[in-house]
Amino acid sequence: MSLSLAERAEAVLRCGDGRAKAALSRAHAAAWLAARDGSGESIEIGRATPPDQPARPDRPELLAPRDVPRRRPGSPAGRIALLHAVAHIELNAIDLHWDIVARFTDIAMPMGFYDDWVRAADDESRHFGMMCDCLESLGSSYGALPAHAGMWRAAEDTKADLMGRLAVVPMVLEARGLDVTPGMISVFKKAGETEAVAALETIYAEEVSHVAYAAKWFHFLCGRENSDPKDVFHALVRRYFHGALKPPFNEEKRAEAGLPPDFYWPLAEQQSG
Ligand SMILES: [Fe+2]
Ligand SMILES: [Fe+2]
Repeated sequence: MSLSLAERAEAVLRCGDGRAKAALSRAHAAAWLAARDGSGESIEIGRATPPDQPARPDRPELLAPRDVPRRRPGSPAGRIALLHAVAHIELNAIDLHWDIVARFTDIAMPMGFYDDWVRAADDESRHFGMMCDCLESLGSSYGALPAHAGMWRAAEDTKADLMGRLAVVPMVLEARGLDVTPGMISVFKKAGETEAVAALETIYAEEVSHVAYAAKWFHFLCGRENSDPKDVFHALVRRYFHGALKPPFNEEKRAEAGLPPDFYWPLAEQQSG
């Protein structure tokens, strides 16, 4: 009997090495997608016991955000630090998507829900690999610099609340990625670092779908209980997200992902002047 999808998700969460986690994630995603299109052995959703914290490598050293050294973004060291930070985010994102798969199996959801998160997890696994490759071709590697601790905080806060998870993780944190990635791409364009530009452009294009998956299933769950998605979104973000959302927002990409302005503007920090 082949492993259930939830057990596969748990296995990814419990794998500590970054490259190995990404490879396992890609293999389980391929098996699931083959099962779904009829070309592979069928896989049930099943149940699992995801860990409170996913397994991670010994390095990078994890520091409080205020203790992570800042480097000038225009310098070569600054660009390596930026790629390292993105690699850390992508590794975290692999776990975040498999955690959604593993943790909420007692809520009956259509199969398409699992298809979406498995696809997103597969994307994140490729993104992590691309960032590792970029770091290595610049003479660094993932783990060589310290990284932010506390990235799992939003997952812990919402471990018993699927709608809270969708609101805070993909619809706030991943949507923030859509706001800041174009600026990062221009940093690497100016430096003529074409491998990083290509990788970040792929990430930018693919992240829209992750936010869109979340918006779709958030609306689905609100529709199931006949509640207003915008009001529910505001209440959940205020409850689970610590702080205001930071403009400027990428309104075009957010719209593409199904996030209208009246979802995020009321949660934005007041601008002075
Ligand atoms: Fe990603
Ligand atoms: Fe993502």
